[in-house]
Amino acid sequence: MKRRYIYSVVLTLLLLLSSAVVALAQASITKQSFGKTAAGENVDLYILKNVHGMEAKITNYGGIVVSLTALDRNRAYADVVLGFNDLESYLTKNDPYLGAIIGRFGNRIAKGRFNLNGVEYKLAVNNGENHLHGGIKGFDKVVWTGREMSTPNGPAVVLTYLSKDGEEGYPGNLRASVTYTLTNKNELRIDYSASTDKATVINLTHHSYFNLLGEGNSDILQHRVTINADRFVPTDAESIPTGELAKVVGTPFDFLKATAIGARINQDHEQLKFGNGYDHTWVINGRPGTLRLAATVAEPVQGRVMEVWTTEPGVQFYTGNFLDGSLTGKAGKPYPRRSGFCLETQHYPDSPNQPAFPTTTLRRGAPFRSTTIYRFRMPGQ
Ligand code: BGC
Repeated sequence: MKRRYIYSVVLTLLLLLSSAVVALAQASITKQSFGKTAAGENVDLYILKNVHGMEAKITNYGGIVVSLTALDRNRAYADVVLGFNDLESYLTKNDPYLGAIIGRFGNRIAKGRFNLNGVEYKLAVNNGENHLHGGIKGFDKVVWTGREMSTPNGPAVVLTYLSKDGEEGYPGNLRASVTYTLTNKNELRIDYSASTDKATVINLTHHSYFNLLGEGNSDILQHRVTINADRFVPTDAESIPTGELAKVVGTPFDFLKATAIGARINQDHEQLKFGNGYDHTWVINGRPGTLRLAATVAEPVQGRVMEVWTTEPGVQFYTGNFLDGSLTGKAGKPYPRRSGFCLETQHYPDSPNQPAFPTTTLRRGAPFRSTTIYRFRMPGQ
């Protein structure tokens, strides 16, 4: 009797152990060629799989997340980010930063100018009179050095890039590193770090366009969004902050309770006119520097839920207002207006010219660190 009991316990333990080993064995990272740039640089595609079978494809060209799968309530996977199948499309199409790493400075710097230590720096101007997303050739258009890594949390790829003193007008040699980890908790975790040899400004972010119905499948107007922010950053007609941090209460910018993106997007509100819809930074409640929930997005039909956690002070919520159907995605379907949304965690726009905003100055010897997590789950999980 006793012996049989011991046998069954041992057998159960062995079964548990072998299923754990099988599950862990499923996590993987492989690398394949994704082609060459016009200058002949080799570009790779890293395919990360976690223990549950969730998959991310990431290229070292622009640090772009090419695809990312997530389960729906029927346990069916769909690719939930907008993107292209081939490097050629990223290189040649008028790509609005689909899935890319943005740097050195995400968002706008007014007139492409700022002062640091008494010196005026002039940056590349690429958005009307202003500087946007790092300039003409930002971090989204350079080839990073990639290295795959297996971690206890899941497969990872480490991307590094040296941005030389003067690149796009910025001072200082900036060494940037971005680690993407596809964790076994169904998260795409992004750890950013950087250091400089001379004072500069920095605002790194990630620019995936999400559609929780799967890329190319309808607009995102029924997705229900919650943003953990009592205030947002109003702008002028060119999306440059006025300097005020306005209360969201009583405005279409109040997402403290889950609200469909489309519920108020066409309201007669000056800020919605300036943004062509939502294209603003929200001031995330809680202490910057600590990882806290910035936003939750729930798609009501298929049931995918995405949470965004970050150490950054703000999040730019952009509703794909400038997509116009001219780009065709991975499944061969066009991307019309508002067929994807971005939640770009970051400092507030134009911070180098706004002394009251949290600083984006990075000094020599003071390392920059920032973390953002896109976590996927099903309702009730
Ligand atoms: C900006 C938009 C811009 C888009 C793509 C977003 O981060 O806020 O204004 O159109 O990126 O370029």
